Amino acid sequence: MAKILAVGNATLDIINVVDDYPHEDQEVRASSQQFRRGGNACNTLAILSQLGHQCSWAGTLADEPDAAVIRADLNKHHINCSAVHTSPHGKVPTSYVTLNRLNGSRTIVHYRELAEYHFNDFLRIDPGQLEWVHFEGRNIGEVTKMMSHLRQEQPDLMVSLEVEKPREGIESLFPLADLLLFSKGYALHHGHHHAKSLLQHIAAQKLEVTASCTWGERGAWAIDYAGRVFHTPAFSPPLVVDTLGAGDTFNAGMIDQLLRGHELELALIEAARLAGKKCGVYGLENIFL
Ligand code: ADP
Ligand code: FRU
Repeated sequence: MAKILAVGNATLDIINVVDDYPHEDQEVRASSQQFRRGGNACNTLAILSQLGHQCSWAGTLADEPDAAVIRADLNKHHINCSAVHTSPHGKVPTSYVTLNRLNGSRTIVHYRELAEYHFNDFLRIDPGQLEWVHFEGRNIGEVTKMMSHLRQEQPDLMVSLEVEKPREGIESLFPLADLLLFSKGYALHHGHHHAKSLLQHIAAQKLEVTASCTWGERGAWAIDYAGRVFHTPAFSPPLVVDTLGAGDTFNAGMIDQLLRGHELELALIEAARLAGKKCGVYGLENIFL
């Protein structure tokens, strides 16, 4: 199994499960509440760790009580935190999630008051030990330095980049990755009303990357070096109860499948199958039961 590092966020997710989605200014009672460790990079690692990989996380935490929830969960998943930077100031990024029990939709209000991860902290990591590094597409200035450093020091190391939210300058990171993992939100923001349109636009730039783009219940698409486009439908569980982290699970599925040497088309199908399973259970714990 592979040694994988992910660079990005850990969050505290406060999840209220509701029987129907409220409208503005309504008062509703949650049927249950959960406190979970979240964050795209750490969610992806939690899945990869359950798939048997040796995982490490690089990111920031605040020195405050809520960080304990995050540390405990990462510990439970055997995710190495030796490269984590703990800031004396701020608050761990916190998401207030309204989860609709009827369709699993998750509406997120996110609050962040924490410094981003710095290149200087990243330099403490020995990339020679790693087989794959996954980046969240955020904190563009510092992540540019990290990705460039890896390209220079370890040109054969596999690097993936999650491109979920449109952010200024994020496109400058694309040539530094081997695999780009796009979201529907990014595609729509850039005027692509179909995943295929975004992926063909990326392929036209001849960046020598493979890329995928998820599209919720419509499944996901991918494009290979030769410009061949593949599609997988979504795999619906008997009941969709929780879509929080579906994209992060899909990303873990892609990384795992490609590390196993599978072709892109099969990787895409298996990643969607895994993400579909996740939508049928609460959290990231019971997917493999
Ligand atoms: P995100 O969690 O980042 O918003 P998506 O909603 O695009 O990401 O979901 C990622 C993948 O998870 C999709 O490509 C699909 O394979 C799967 N998925 C999402 N929603 C569902 C659903 N309701 N039923 C089955 N699979 C789903
Ligand atoms: C799910 C997630 C949550 C987190 C939010 C941050 O993809 O990582 O766990 O609160 O997104 O944007």
